[in-house]
Amino acid sequence: MSDKSKATTEFTGRRQFLKQSGFVGALAVTSGLSTQVLAENYADNTPNTSMCKFSQLASDFTYLNSGTEGSMPKCVIDHLNAGLLRWASDPTTSYESDPNFGKRQHKNRADVAALLGVEKDNICLTDNTTMGLNMVLMGLNFQANDRAIITNHEHNAIVSPLTVIKQRIGTKIITREFPHAHKLANISADELIDYLFPNDPALRGAKALCVSHVYPTTGLRLPLNLLRKKADELEIEYLIVDGAQAFGMLDVSDGDEHISACDFYACPGHKWLNGPPSTGILYLKNSEIHPPEFYPTLSQRMYKFEDATDKTARPFPMAQALQVRGCSNAPGFSSMLRAMQFQHDIGGPKLVEQHILTLSQSVKDFIAASSPNALASPTVDPSLKSGLTVFFPFSWYKPSHLFYDKKTCDHVVAKLLEKNIQIRSIGFDEPDQNEPLYALRVSTAVFNSKRQLGIFQGALKEVLSQLI
Ligand SMILES: Cc1ncc(COP(=O)(O)O)c(C=O)c1O
Repeated sequence: MSDKSKATTEFTGRRQFLKQSGFVGALAVTSGLSTQVLAENYADNTPNTSMCKFSQLASDFTYLNSGTEGSMPKCVIDHLNAGLLRWASDPTTSYESDPNFGKRQHKNRADVAALLGVEKDNICLTDNTTMGLNMVLMGLNFQANDRAIITNHEHNAIVSPLTVIKQRIGTKIITREFPHAHKLANISADELIDYLFPNDPALRGAKALCVSHVYPTTGLRLPLNLLRKKADELEIEYLIVDGAQAFGMLDVSDGDEHISACDFYACPGHKWLNGPPSTGILYLKNSEIHPPEFYPTLSQRMYKFEDATDKTARPFPMAQALQVRGCSNAPGFSSMLRAMQFQHDIGGPKLVEQHILTLSQSVKDFIAASSPNALASPTVDPSLKSGLTVFFPFSWYKPSHLFYDKKTCDHVVAKLLEKNIQIRSIGFDEPDQNEPLYALRVSTAVFNSKRQLGIFQGALKEVLSQLI
C-alpha cells in the first residue's frame, strides 16, 4: 500500500469508526471499566500490541509531570503521523478543503463540541491555552475604568495580556491573595471562594474575573459551579477560566465542572489529555459575540465584522472568525480529537478523572503521613482537589524541618531524575513574603499506576533522607 493510501485509510477508518460507534453527536457510553482495570491495562507499559498504550514512555521511566507536558498514546502518534503523510501528499486540498485539515475546521470543531456537550460555534481550536486566553483578553473591549480581578497565583498566560491591557488602556487589575499555602490543606471550597472574592464594592461590577480552574502552584481546584455563583453574585460581566491544568484531568463535559459555567474557557490538548504539542481549545459561551464587545484579533476575518451592527454583515460566528488565521496545526487538531476519543475508549473522562484523583490521593496520604505540615495542596474538601500534589521538601528523619528554597527543590528533582523519576519544582508568591516559596509538584496521570507511585515513594524517601 502506498503511503498516501495508508494515510487515507487511517482517516477513512476513523470516520467509519465514529459513524458506526455513534461517537459523534452523543457522548460515548462508558465501557464500564474500573480504575483498577484502567491502571492494569493502560497505565503500565506491559507489552500488548493490540492496545493503544503510552509505549513511548519507557517502562523504567516514572513520568510524574503531566502538569508540564503529557505524553501521547500510540494511537494518537499513529494518527498524527498518518495525518502528516496525507497532508504532504495533497497539500493544497488539505489546507483549503479537506474535512479533517481544512482551514475552517468545521468537522473537528463539531466533534470536539459534541464530546464537551456544547455547540460547534462555541469552539475554536487553538495552539495552546496561552493563545486562547490572549484571543479572549485582547479581544474583549476593556476600557480605562474597567476592572479585572485575578489572584496572586495566576499563570503568565493571564497576567501577560492583562498587563498589556493595563499599560495600553489603563484598565485596573485587582490581585487577590490566596491564604498561606499551609492553610490550604484544611480549607473548604465555600470558605476559600468567599475569602478570595468577598462581596465588597472594590470587586462588585468588575468587567472580568480571570482565574485558573486548577492552580499549577498548589494544585488547588476552584470548582466552576462555585465560580459561576460568585461571578453572578458580584455582577461580574465575564468569567474567564484558564483550564491548562484541568482539561484531560477533570471531566469538564458534565455536571458541576461543565465548561458552560464559564463565559470563556481556554485549555491545552498537550498536557493531561495527552494530545500532540501545539493543540488547544477555546470555549466561547456566547457564539454570537461580535464587535465592539469582542474583536477577532488573531484572525483573517475582521473585515467581515466592519459593520457588525448589521447581522448580515457578520456572517461568521466569532469562533470561526478566530479559527481562520492562516495555516494552523490541523493534523494536530485531528489528533487531539483522537486523544479525546482514546479517553472515551478507555472508559470516559469521568473514569480517567477518578483514576487520576485516586492516585493523587495516595501521594497526598503518603506525604501527610511522612510530614504532616509539608503539603501545600488541599486535602480535606474533595471539590478543591486535583491530580497535582504540591509539597515542601522535608528532612526524612526530622519531618518538621521543611525547606522552601529553589535550590533544595531543584536538588530533589535532579536526584529523582537520576533514578528515572520525573517530577518538577514550582515557585509561588505568598502573602507577606518578599521572595517566592518553592515546592515539589507531582502529577499523577492516566498512564501512571500504583506500582509507579511505590517506586516514587521509595526514591523520595532515599533523597529526603539526605536532607539535613
Ligand atoms: C495555569 C497555566 N496556564 C497556562 C499554561 C500555559 O499552557 P499552554 O502551553 O497550553 O499555553 C500553563 C502551563 O503550565 C499553566 O499551568
